[in-house]
Amino acid sequence: MKVKSICCIGAGYVGGPTMAVIAKKCPGIKVTVVDINEARIAAWNDPDVNNIPVYEPGLGEVVAESRGRNLFFSTDVDGAIDESDMIFISVNTPTKTYGEGKGLAADLKWIELCARQIARVAKSDKIVVEKSTLPVRTASTIKSILDHTGSGVSFQILSNPEFLAEGTAVEDLMDPDRVLIGGDQTEEGLKAIQALVDVYAQWVPRERILTTNVWSSELSKLTANAFLAQRVSSINSLSELCEHTEADINEVARAIGSDSRIGPKFLKASVGFGGSCFQKDILNLVYISRSYGLNEVADYWEQVIQMNDHQKRRFAKKIIRSLYNTVNGKKIAFLGWAFKKDTNDTRESAAIYVADHLLFEQAHVAVYDPKVKEEQVFVDMDYLNTRSSEENRKYIDVVEDPYEACKGAHAIAVLTEWDVFKQYDWSKIYDNMLKPAHVFDGRNVLDAEKLRKIGFQVYSIGTPS
Ligand code: NAD
Ligand code: UDX
Repeated sequence: MKVKSICCIGAGYVGGPTMAVIAKKCPGIKVTVVDINEARIAAWNDPDVNNIPVYEPGLGEVVAESRGRNLFFSTDVDGAIDESDMIFISVNTPTKTYGEGKGLAADLKWIELCARQIARVAKSDKIVVEKSTLPVRTASTIKSILDHTGSGVSFQILSNPEFLAEGTAVEDLMDPDRVLIGGDQTEEGLKAIQALVDVYAQWVPRERILTTNVWSSELSKLTANAFLAQRVSSINSLSELCEHTEADINEVARAIGSDSRIGPKFLKASVGFGGSCFQKDILNLVYISRSYGLNEVADYWEQVIQMNDHQKRRFAKKIIRSLYNTVNGKKIAFLGWAFKKDTNDTRESAAIYVADHLLFEQAHVAVYDPKVKEEQVFVDMDYLNTRSSEENRKYIDVVEDPYEACKGAHAIAVLTEWDVFKQYDWSKIYDNMLKPAHVFDGRNVLDAEKLRKIGFQVYSIGTPS
């Protein structure tokens, strides 16, 4: 079967970039991305590609090339389902905030809604592709909804998890390490797998397209994120030991990363990992393991999250301790709010938790981030529900100029590793701060020696100070 028309439900950080790249690489396929969020679709359709809702280097150009040719953004979900041969489900699957599995399990209500909508609308056979990250065995839930329509329409369900990282999404999509496609090992299932292989094979070398059974594919996605996050927690755990032993975490990372069995990537000590995936997917793995009675497996992975929570708390406490055990009324400038550089995404960003901790101590936080909007900072803080909206607004200022953020501050905390922070005029920043002027580099991006020469007191994660 040759795919001619694709629909993707969910125009978020995954659906938008992924479909834009499929449309670019497969000009013969019509790609329609649909969402119930009208404002988001309007932003994807904004004639000025600088206003699309997801900031990713290079994405504007990719969207501009295909939009209106074979890439469309729309709120007509039913229409797009009806006319497509293949439907990607790329909706959000956050951690449940209520009921059974609260705080651990993935909330699948949006997935179920999509399945029911497809079941209701489809009049011809469809291949349904799970692009969202889902608990292992979710395909059977989707299948059971789709198989009970009584309409005679037949559905194949594939798992095709997305491995892109934010900030490098376009690069990752254009040149992926691998594409994973899981499906039923029946004749019909294998045909569906082949149809999706043929889409990716238009630009991905065939040997990088892996096919598996559907359960291996679902579980591999959770596992990949768990392994990556585990590396960050491992290096972060050692950063604390470094601070007590005069070892330097950057040197340790280089030394161990040179072992080809370990490898150099994902060994950067930080204030803690954030993002919409790592914590959610590990918690989900923990929940699934416990639901099978595998408590040791669950405890093992849960420790990765505990270490990460510790690292965020430890960073905030370090700031407080260094400022003579009180930050009450003191101005702390935050450079960066996004969970990593080159994205405007702030979900689970360490900055949120560090700010929360400092606000409990009645500090005044001035935030500057090159891509995050003021309202997002307050949405993030209000979502924590630890104090009123008014209090968050009283203690936090979001400013549009980094020098303004640092002016009159007792300390600067670097929460995101934006490259531009390295290029600032640090002497000018120093001159306008209260003394002693502190820098807490939660990303080890600044040149600590240079800053010390200017006069700053510098703390970098896991290095001797
Ligand atoms: P997102 O919140 O940015 O986007 C999801 C979109 O789905 C939203 O715009 C929402 O309005 C829409 N939606 C929800 N229910 C809908 C419905 N019934 N009909 C139409 N639209 C609906 O989420 P995201 O970051 O793109 O993540 C999507 C999935 O991909 C998640 O399962 C996530 O775990 C996974 N994932 C994310 C990343 C990442 O880097 N963000 C990477 C790999 C995988
Ligand atoms: C992750 C996975 O990498 C990606 O494959 C998956 O599809 C989605 O989840 P993402 O969350 O977008 O991607 O970014 P990633 O680069 O993995 O970073 C996650 C967090 O870990 C960030 O807060 C980052 O700053 C932090 N991190 C990463 C470190 O602290 N140190 C490192 O060495 C690497």
